[in-house]
Amino acid sequence: MAEHSMTLVEPDGGTGERDPLVYRDEVLHIEGVRVDAIAQAVATPFYCYSSAAIREAYGTLSRALSPIGVSVCFAVKANCNVSVLGLLAELGSGMDIVSGGELERALAAGVPASKIIFSGVGKKRAEIARALEVGIHQINVESAAELDVVISVAAALDLRAPVALRVNPDVDAHTHSKISTGRREDKFGIAIEMIPALFAKAAAAPELDVVGLAVHIGSQILDLTPYREAYSRMADLVASLRSRGLPVHRLDLGGGIGILYDQNAGREIGEYAEIVRETVGDIGCELTVEPGRWLVGPGGVLVTEVLYVKETGDRLTAIVDAGMNDLMRPALYGAVHPVLPLRHDRQVNSHIYQIAGPVCESSDVFGTYAALPPLQLGDRLVFGCAGAYGASMASTYNSRDLAAEVLVDGDRFRVIRRRQTIEAMLALEEGSEWQIPRAEPAKDVERVFRQTA
Ligand code: LLP
Repeated sequence: MAEHSMTLVEPDGGTGERDPLVYRDEVLHIEGVRVDAIAQAVATPFYCYSSAAIREAYGTLSRALSPIGVSVCFAVKANCNVSVLGLLAELGSGMDIVSGGELERALAAGVPASKIIFSGVGKKRAEIARALEVGIHQINVESAAELDVVISVAAALDLRAPVALRVNPDVDAHTHSKISTGRREDKFGIAIEMIPALFAKAAAAPELDVVGLAVHIGSQILDLTPYREAYSRMADLVASLRSRGLPVHRLDLGGGIGILYDQNAGREIGEYAEIVRETVGDIGCELTVEPGRWLVGPGGVLVTEVLYVKETGDRLTAIVDAGMNDLMRPALYGAVHPVLPLRHDRQVNSHIYQIAGPVCESSDVFGTYAALPPLQLGDRLVFGCAGAYGASMASTYNSRDLAAEVLVDGDRFRVIRRRQTIEAMLALEEGSEWQIPRAEPAKDVERVFRQTA
C-alpha cells in the first residue's frame, strides 16, 4: 500500500510529524477514514479534526513540560467544540477561557472549575460572578479598573476571588501585528512598572486571594527568543515582589507557540520547554501554559468543494464553497493554509489556481496554489492546519451556514456540530407589530438547499 504524508507544493516532500492527513493508495485519508467518504455523508464545507493528532500533540507537550512542573490549560478560543474540549480534558488538560460562553463550554465538557483560568481584557460583572460562583481556579486581571470590579463582585457574593495580575512586559513577539499582545501599546495586561503597587493593593484586599502573575505576549510565535525576554522579566518581577514581602505562588506563562502552516506541523517543543526551564524553572512558582493553536491547529482540516472555475486576468480561479466566513484567517491576517486535493497523482497535480470563496468581498481569497490537479465543478479540496481559529472564528456573513464539524477517531467519524442553517438564524429574528407581517419561512428551505448539493 502506497502511504505518505503530504504538503502543498512538493506533494511527497514533507512529512509533518503530526500530520493527520495521509494518502493511502493515492486517496486522502484523515486517520483511517477517507475524506471523500465523510464528504459524501456531510455536506461541504465542514471542519474535520483528528483525535489522534490532538492526543499526540497533547502527549508531546506534556512530556516536554511536566518534568519541569508546568501544567497545561488549553486556550478554548482556538477550538471551542465541546467534543474537542472533552478530548483534551480526558487527557488531563485544564482550560483557559476568555468569556462566560467559553466557561459554560468548558464546564459542559466536564472540566472542573478548579482547572479553569479566566483570561480576557473585558470581563463583564455577570461573567466574573458566574466564574466565582462555580469556583474558578484563577481570574487573570488585566487592569486596575477590572481589579476594582472583581473586588466589588466578590464582596457582593461574599466570596474570595483568586486573582493573578496579567503583566504587559513590553516585549515584541515578532508575530503578526494583529495577534501581538505584549507590547506597551497593546491593549492587554497591566504595564509592568505598575504591577508592584497594584499587587500590594490587591494583596491587602480581603475579597481577593492574590495568587500570582500571568503573561501572554502574542500568538503564532515562531522565533521563540521573545519568550526568553518576557519570562526573564517575569522572573525578575517575582523576585522584586517577594523582596517587598509579597508572595507570588503561581505564574501563568500564556500561550502563543506557533505552528508551521506549510508542513501541517507544530514546532519542536523542546526549545520552548528549555526556555521555560532556564528562565522560570526554579523560581518556586506553580507554572501553567495556555497553548491553543499548537495543540489543535495541525490536527484539523476544512473540506470544501469546487463550485466554478473561471479565468481571472492571467490565471484560473477556482471558486469553492468555503469562504472567509468559514475560515477567516487568510482575509484577516494574510494567513496561507495548505491545500490538498483528495487524490494524489503527481502526473496531473501540476496546475496552478487561485482559490477563492463565494463571499462578496475581494478579501475572500485563500491564495494561489500550485501542485493541484485540473479542477472542475464538484472536485473536493482540503485546507490543512485549520483546527485552530477556524470553526471558532466562523460567522454567518452573507447568511451562509455555519459549517459542520466532524471528529475522526481511528476508522470512525462523528458529526460533533451540525451545520447551523438559515432556518436556525431566521428563528432568532422577530418582526415588530408595526411592521408588515412577514411570510413564514419556508419549512422545506433546508431540503431545497441540500437536494441540489
Ligand atoms: N492565552 C491568552 C491570554 C490568549 O490571548 C491566547 C490567544 C492564548 C492563550 C492562546 O494562544 P495560541 O497558543 O493559540 O497562540 N485568531 C488568531 C489568534 C488569536 C490569538 C488570541 N489569543 C489567529 O487565527 O491566528
